Amino acid sequence: MSIPVIDVFAGPGGLNEGFSALHDPNGEQRFSTAVSIEMDPWACETLKLRATFRGLRRVTGHTPAPYVDLLAGRTSLTDFYRHPDVEGHAKEADEEVRRIELGEKTRAISDSVIAERLRNAGGGEWVLIGGPPCQAYSLAGRSRRVGDPSFKDDHKHVLYREYLNIIAKFEPAVFVMENVKGMLSSQHEGGRIFERIKADLESPRMGLDYEIRSLVVPVAAADLQPSDFIIRAEEHGIPQRRHRVIMLGVRSDLTSRASMVLGKQGQVSVRDVIGDLPAIRSRISPVSNDSPSAWHESRMLAAALAGEREPQRDAVPELGDRWLPYRSRIRGELAEWLVDSSLSGITLHEARRHMPSDLQRYAYLSYLAGRGKSPKVMDLPAQLAPNHRNASRTDAPFADRFRVQQWVSPSTTVVSHIAKDGHYYIHPDPEQMRSLTVREAARLQTFPDNYLFVGNRTQQYHQVGNAVPPLLAKRIGEVVADLLG
Ligand SMILES: C[S@@+](CC[C@H](N)C(=O)[O-])C[C@H]1O[C@@H](n2cnc3c(N)ncnc32)[C@H](O)[C@@H]1O
Repeated sequence: MSIPVIDVFAGPGGLNEGFSALHDPNGEQRFSTAVSIEMDPWACETLKLRATFRGLRRVTGHTPAPYVDLLAGRTSLTDFYRHPDVEGHAKEADEEVRRIELGEKTRAISDSVIAERLRNAGGGEWVLIGGPPCQAYSLAGRSRRVGDPSFKDDHKHVLYREYLNIIAKFEPAVFVMENVKGMLSSQHEGGRIFERIKADLESPRMGLDYEIRSLVVPVAAADLQPSDFIIRAEEHGIPQRRHRVIMLGVRSDLTSRASMVLGKQGQVSVRDVIGDLPAIRSRISPVSNDSPSAWHESRMLAAALAGEREPQRDAVPELGDRWLPYRSRIRGELAEWLVDSSLSGITLHEARRHMPSDLQRYAYLSYLAGRGKSPKVMDLPAQLAPNHRNASRTDAPFADRFRVQQWVSPSTTVVSHIAKDGHYYIHPDPEQMRSLTVREAARLQTFPDNYLFVGNRTQQYHQVGNAVPPLLAKRIGEVVADLLG
């Protein structure tokens, strides 16, 4: 029997993807999603599509043709859902994904959905995954709101109470609560919010009798320090430096079971996961100035300024190809996880538009990065220096306004506002002179290539950056599955 999972604040489903991917030796799924609750309409569309895909694949055992057609842009989402092989799974997915803004006002609705879905799943032990949203805890969010009296009452600040309500009412065997690191030091009404959450969750008086364990430090719950809850994704085979707080709550009647932690894995680099994707040319804004020759001119200029030879590669796909022919050269566990051998192409791999001046800066800085430097704004030659009176300032964040991702190490954190921060995600290949595509960001987050994010490009980037890396989630799922036997 699969263990039911309730996924709240589900985002695009990164955490759930990892749990859903686990199978027992008989090929049965270890966990099955009872319901995903999320308020963002685009994330819900992505969740519904993924749930439909999983339903289809459970039956066929592979990626079915209608889904390949959708990925390749040969069919629309509407037609995909109308396909006779797909319709039934899409209906089930509608039941599985619920668009609800969790909060006091909707509590009765969410409670009845959870009760019904757990009943349908046949009762028994189940697992709660997801974490209350992080904006209000995040360091950036807090510094922007210093002196704002409404901050204390921000409903996001206390949304974790909705999470506590679900735990108190439905008593999962285990819960996995993810949050940003800023949550550890965030203050609320004179106390650290972290201490309060921990006290609440371990409080039999409130009907919440759980032991809060760390997934990385194997000491008794009572001896854990706040920093022991930080998981560094790059230490667990994820090609990205992403540090998040993850607490594992184990119901008190199960706490006698051995404590387990995630094993460390070797480092995975940016090159390991995006190095084999098709080279594409950057797009120039405004559209009226975009042409292969304008693009090449910018490349030539940047190469000359960096003292490099002329860029050679010109066999790049023309713009507008949603589906690029591609066969992966990745090998090993990562290939098994990321690559879908039924696909002969790759989607969501389109470059964003940038002004020629920014493209030239990207190229120049990535030439420097290739020489082992971590280039800063002031490394730009006068001709490429931003036309800004602060350009020569050495203080961060201005000095770090541009950041080239390095081939040989994990990337920096893929954040939810990556769409606005193209300058921070410069592709390491100077000849491509561009920021990362949605697919590249998704690979750094370890989303499989057959994961499709619904919405426009900004919404896609947003979803990708919000997620728990699915491969990390799979490793967490293994710990939970072992715990539940
Ligand atoms: C950090 S993301 C979750 C990522 C997810 N665990 C994953 O692995 O993909 C947080 C999500 O909570 C959602 N959210 C925020 N407030 C919410 C609310 N009151 N009710 C439901 N969802 C909410 C946001 O839209 C966002 O998608």
